Amino acid sequence: MAPMSGSQKPWEHVKSGGSEADPLAARFVESLSYDTRLYKHDIAGSIAHARMLQHVGLITEDDLAAIEKGLGEIEEEIEAAGVTGWGGWKIELEDVHMCIEAALIEKIGEPGKKLHTGRSRNDQVATDLAMWCKEAAGEMLLSATTLADTFSELANRQGRLVMPSYTHLQRAQPIVLGGELQAWADAFTGCFARCGVLMDLHGRCPLGSGAIAGSSLALDRHKSADDLQLFSGPSNNAIEATASRDVAIDFVYALSMTAMWLSRWAEQWIIYMTSEFGFLSIGDAYTTGSSMMPQKRNPDMLELIRGRCGTVYGHLVSLLTICKGLTVGYNRDLQEDKRHVFSAYDTVKDCLEMATQIVRSARFNEDRIKASLDTGFLDATSLAEYLVTKGVPFRTAHQIVGALVWHCIDNNMTKLSDLSVEQMRQGAADLAPRDAIAEDVYDWLGAENVVKRYQTHGNAGLSGFKQQLAQWKQRLDKSSP
Ligand code: ARG
Repeated sequence: MAPMSGSQKPWEHVKSGGSEADPLAARFVESLSYDTRLYKHDIAGSIAHARMLQHVGLITEDDLAAIEKGLGEIEEEIEAAGVTGWGGWKIELEDVHMCIEAALIEKIGEPGKKLHTGRSRNDQVATDLAMWCKEAAGEMLLSATTLADTFSELANRQGRLVMPSYTHLQRAQPIVLGGELQAWADAFTGCFARCGVLMDLHGRCPLGSGAIAGSSLALDRHKSADDLQLFSGPSNNAIEATASRDVAIDFVYALSMTAMWLSRWAEQWIIYMTSEFGFLSIGDAYTTGSSMMPQKRNPDMLELIRGRCGTVYGHLVSLLTICKGLTVGYNRDLQEDKRHVFSAYDTVKDCLEMATQIVRSARFNEDRIKASLDTGFLDATSLAEYLVTKGVPFRTAHQIVGALVWHCIDNNMTKLSDLSVEQMRQGAADLAPRDAIAEDVYDWLGAENVVKRYQTHGNAGLSGFKQQLAQWKQRLDKSSP
């Protein structure tokens, strides 16, 4: 019986017409408007599949040669025309996969029709997307490393500067600027490490899982997985492999964590740039004026970085929600995944690059920060630790220092070092022996002294900062050729 054919779609021939018959349906069903960026991965997946088909005797060597040559030419054509400019994209064919296959058949004829043997768009798109995510994760790794390095470079320039740290955005203990800058460097190092770990989780290749159940043909899925060189072997279960978007969700989670750190950093620097703080200025290119208030220099780029975190979280929640109600196996809902993965990636990559430029241009205002050090009793904890070294239990020391701080406030003294030894002894009278406080107490007071005293591994004072800077320099030396 001749097939009923009213459709141009090769896979719609059993029906009297395809979705292209209705322009709204054609527009509604397509993913070509956003999935063309998978073209390289699609072609690589097709070549691996074709090599496997030849290896198991399902196509001839000549077929394979024609397929490889045809796909190679298509890739060159797309590259020459630019992804959007290639003439082979036909919206009525729905997606990147069908357009490339149709172009191949047009180019090489019969052998092209054999390419889809034992394959479905369901395993094809799962494979393409996994490959794309892994490649994009590699790019992310580079961008996040560059940003982390840029924080370390700034730390190298201005890191010895003593400054206040904040908990609850209230003055806490003195630190050196390098301690804080290395905190950001560490956070972004964590971001690329997370990306690597999550991508390593997805080492299995879906190719050859078919539509849902695999194939009755003797495909060698180990061969195609090996050929792609990105995977450790074929996926275990055809149903899971075609139903899963875990690789995309994990990747967007890693992107969301990066966006979160970018947003926290942006918030901190926005605060540092206020007139009230006056700690920091960044390059003019990264601030904007106001259309009404002539004096303004607004930190718009930082605000946009903070704002775009919301966009990225939205993509993560969208992906999770798209998947939550789906039966196991492919459902067309999954086509929506790519909008979110691509946009989340583009957003975070842009933000990382913007952040790197901002950090490069940043200058901390040393005079302003130094002048601010004597407010907020930053050395109070240091004084309590001094008492601990003299045998006073920490809880008691905390109580003594608390009382001394209140005494200073009541008597219009701004610093603990304004107190005489005698005044301190009197303040501690019922709680500690007189000799617990001596002249050497002043070595523990004042922000400049305190940052030299921290000794714990990873501290935010001078020794911790120097150690972290040395580690960074060592890593740079190792990675430079
Ligand atoms: N463009 C589709 C996607 O991105 C390809 C899969 C279509 N599969 C199907 N059985 N209709 O998910």
